Amino acid sequence: MNYLLAFTSLAVAVTVYIAVCTRKVSFRAIPGPPSPSWVFGNMLQLWVSSPYGKYEFAWLKEYGNVYRLKGCFGQDRLMVSDPRAVQHVLNNVDTFRISPLVETFLHNFEGPRGIQVVQGAEHRRMRTALNVAFTASAVRQYQELFENVARKISSELEATSESVVDVCQVIGAGTLAAITEVVLGRSVEELDEELVQILSTALVQDTRQTPSSVVANALSVLLPQFNLLKHVVSLLPVLSLLRKARKLATRLGTQVIEEKAAALEGGMDPGDDLYAYLLRQNTTLTKEDIAIQTPVLLIAGQDTTANTLTFGLLELARKPELQEKIRQEIHSMADSPYDNRPLLNALIKESLRMFPAEALAERIVVRDTVIPLTESISTMAGEHIDHIPVRKGEVVLVGIASYQRDKSRWGENPDKFDPLRWVDGRVIQGEAIGPYANLLSFLGGPRTCLGWRFAVMEMQTIFSELLGKFSFALEEDKPDDLFVQLAVSLQPSDPDGKKVVPLRITRLL
Ligand code: HEM
Repeated sequence: MNYLLAFTSLAVAVTVYIAVCTRKVSFRAIPGPPSPSWVFGNMLQLWVSSPYGKYEFAWLKEYGNVYRLKGCFGQDRLMVSDPRAVQHVLNNVDTFRISPLVETFLHNFEGPRGIQVVQGAEHRRMRTALNVAFTASAVRQYQELFENVARKISSELEATSESVVDVCQVIGAGTLAAITEVVLGRSVEELDEELVQILSTALVQDTRQTPSSVVANALSVLLPQFNLLKHVVSLLPVLSLLRKARKLATRLGTQVIEEKAAALEGGMDPGDDLYAYLLRQNTTLTKEDIAIQTPVLLIAGQDTTANTLTFGLLELARKPELQEKIRQEIHSMADSPYDNRPLLNALIKESLRMFPAEALAERIVVRDTVIPLTESISTMAGEHIDHIPVRKGEVVLVGIASYQRDKSRWGENPDKFDPLRWVDGRVIQGEAIGPYANLLSFLGGPRTCLGWRFAVMEMQTIFSELLGKFSFALEEDKPDDLFVQLAVSLQPSDPDGKKVVPLRITRLL
């Protein structure tokens, strides 16, 4: 057995060595930081640093918005947050694909026909059909459902008023309720307990970036021919959790769709939720097409929104005067549509800007191409270039978090949480890449977040309800030592690596 293990490790090591040594990198001449290790390159600094961005944001200042990094085993990575380069990578989804490891995760969780798994014409067909339920006018139809959920969260908080509460738990439970009630028309209490447990805790705890996940990702890129790796990875506990969640969520989705379709056929009201809306629209989607999107909708729409809301509340607890200003707007503009409330929307934009759920988007080049740049850069030899050739098999990292800290775009002190930058004219929008406020938090191009309008309305209703009724404060006499960590998405963390945000919540009025 030991011989077998030793032989396999040697074979992998030799193959890695040959693969690295025989590959010529097209962007080697681009400057970047020194690499602290051959095994990890700069990848631990990039993916596993605490707080997230400790190195990345310093590199951004030193090397600008295009630079070279070392990957594991001496590979090279191209890091871009230059607007034109980002736009090019995100728009050309058939040339820049997600990494094989992420693909394996998505496959386990969504199955072969999940919206994030399907490609090309099938993706376009599904996107167009699903989009019907995510347009501005469709999302307006769900406003009342969102407001009901927001009121439920605040009535839960009434019971705990004046005490210190973990906001991650409260908001996490709230966004899970929002997604199940608004998408499926079901309350969380009606869901399978195991599914709720996986969605609300297990997945979040088990998906942190670690040195092993960084190496596994590098190997999946370097040795795509090692299909074996896929099978080994499939044995990981987190993937069996994902498969379990997929099975339970798809079963739930199928049940809900069948019931709603039967109600419609019988001339009865199937409800005001998103699935009912989708069924009424007669799209090209079959009942099965819709049901199999249940896992991705439940997961993509929950933790992302929860973390953005939680970061927003934490920042407001750190800035009581700003919190009071936003509260006054909520009270004075109670009858105005959410979109017309400048400070509320500034809070949402700033929370998305500083804490994008997906901080880095990694893409593999599947055919040789050239990436255009907004401004030319200098190579180490002093040559000025405004295009970067990339070859099949190379890896490009889109620095979403870095893009959102570019001073020339977002104004002075881009590392500071300052929602007022959105109302006093400091933000220079420039060309549109992302769908909302030109942020990349919802990505851009054909793979733009399907639920971005849904998420914005959810955050508008929950922030308005909670900030209108409660004040949020840091714990007295405790150090403010919470920081940002990268798990499946950016999340708040205490010094022990636990996802927790304890705040004192007080009922107002
Ligand atoms: C603050 C909240 C949210 C953020 C920051 C966010 C961000 C993102 C990002 C960055 C992607 C692209 C992932 C990639 O391809 O690399 C994405 C995709 C997606 N999101 Fe969201 N999301 C949020 C909320 C939601 C909600 C509420 C829903 C559904 C109700 C949703 C549904 C989806 C779906 C279905 C995709 C896949 C789209 C496709 O591949 O065509 N998201 N989201």
